[in-house]
Amino acid sequence: MKVLLLGATGNVGSRALPALIKHGHTVVVYVRSPSKLAPGKRAVLADVVVGSVTDKSALKDAILAHNCDAVFHAAGVAQMFGRSKTGEYNKMFATVVAAIVEAREERRGPAIRAWLMSGFPMLDSAIPTHLIGDYMPMFPEHRENLALIQKQDEGNIAWSLFCANQMSPKHNEIRIPAPDDCSAANVIASADSPPEWRDTLKWVPLIGPYLNVFGLAGGYATSLEDPLDFIATDFEKGLQSEFVGKRVGLKMKKAAP
Ligand SMILES: NC(=O)c1ccc[n+]([C@@H]2O[C@H](COP(=O)([O-])OP(=O)(O)OC[C@H]3O[C@@H](n4cnc5c(N)ncnc54)[C@H](OP(=O)(O)O)[C@@H]3O)[C@@H](O)[C@H]2O)c1
Repeated sequence: MKVLLLGATGNVGSRALPALIKHGHTVVVYVRSPSKLAPGKRAVLADVVVGSVTDKSALKDAILAHNCDAVFHAAGVAQMFGRSKTGEYNKMFATVVAAIVEAREERRGPAIRAWLMSGFPMLDSAIPTHLIGDYMPMFPEHRENLALIQKQDEGNIAWSLFCANQMSPKHNEIRIPAPDDCSAANVIASADSPPEWRDTLKWVPLIGPYLNVFGLAGGYATSLEDPLDFIATDFEKGLQSEFVGKRVGLKMKKAAP
């Protein structure tokens, strides 16, 4: 696919680029600090667009001018507790979604495929209708983004939310394309609730759901690179992906480094 990558100078985005290149995608980055892009990265890019993710019309123009059929949103960073005073994280998410929808409406044709970063608390807990975030109130800004994306018409934006837990680099050096030990084969994925999630403690009176969430959450830390290879692999499926319209949880097959 032709992917517009947002946040390419950050932890996630800088490792998404080698994965996307490895899987044969054409990548245009949209960055506010182009000087942070090393020459080795620039060399593999179809283009660099300079702008802020708070600028809807510039984002829309970047999608349309480069005829992108996919977007990977990894810009900004959610607050662990509470919300930023400016609300910038939620504003960026809403701006990206609006830009994608407007670009699709203006261009017509198929929906734009989008992977957007979210957090682990946005997955379902063992008790239906409750999110993990209901028992573990961290990264609350993701909740507003989830409500917004679930209202969207999938004919405009074919979205998936990556509900990531803590991610740590497997390699300090970022090589392009990503090395072969960075692979979707190292992770298990599931839609809407964490893979292999168990509910053994949920029946303990009152505190059961909390025990369940806090007992299990630590097992969902991952590397940065393997989940990003998973997303780059999934982009190859385009609009046929089984993860369209889903929150996606990932777990390492072996414990994270
Ligand atoms: N890292 C993790 O373990 C983890 C876990 C779960 C979820 N997440 C989520 O993953 C996403 C990315 O996290 P990260 O760790 O990669 O964050 P990060 O390292 O802080 O990177 C944030 C990126 O966003 C860019 N950015 C911020 N504001 C922008 C703006 N107005 N316009 C354009 N670009 C802007 C930054 O650009 P500059 O370089 O110019 O500042 C940087 O490239 C976030 O949504 C985060 O909540 C991360």
